[in-house]
Amino acid sequence: MTPLARLDALPDPGAIVVEVEQDGARLSLILTRSGDRVSAFRNKCPHAGYPLQRADGRLVVQESRYLVCAAHGASFTLTDGACAGGPCNGDPLERVFVDVREGVVLLPR
Ligand code: FES
Repeated sequence: MTPLARLDALPDPGAIVVEVEQDGARLSLILTRSGDRVSAFRNKCPHAGYPLQRADGRLVVQESRYLVCAAHGASFTLTDGACAGGPCNGDPLERVFVDVREGVVLLPR
């Protein structure tokens, strides 16, 4: 298991970007939190493949429910990564399985 972030470091509701190395490859992930629900997605927008964060590294969360890609405005549900509008054209974010144990978000190997 690779530790990604402490649960209390995640805004609630909100999302952060974490970078990890796994099996020699660099992985950029989005961790989202809404109450007890923590989800993770690959940080790659299905529209044109860009990472979702703004130039300052922050993710845009609207109405406490939607993650908005900074590139062209595609929006995704915070908990499921489903396309909720904009140029994602129905394509979701790619979900990554994570586990939360003792207040730490973990990525299985
Ligand atoms: S790359 Fe995300 S909306 Fe275009």
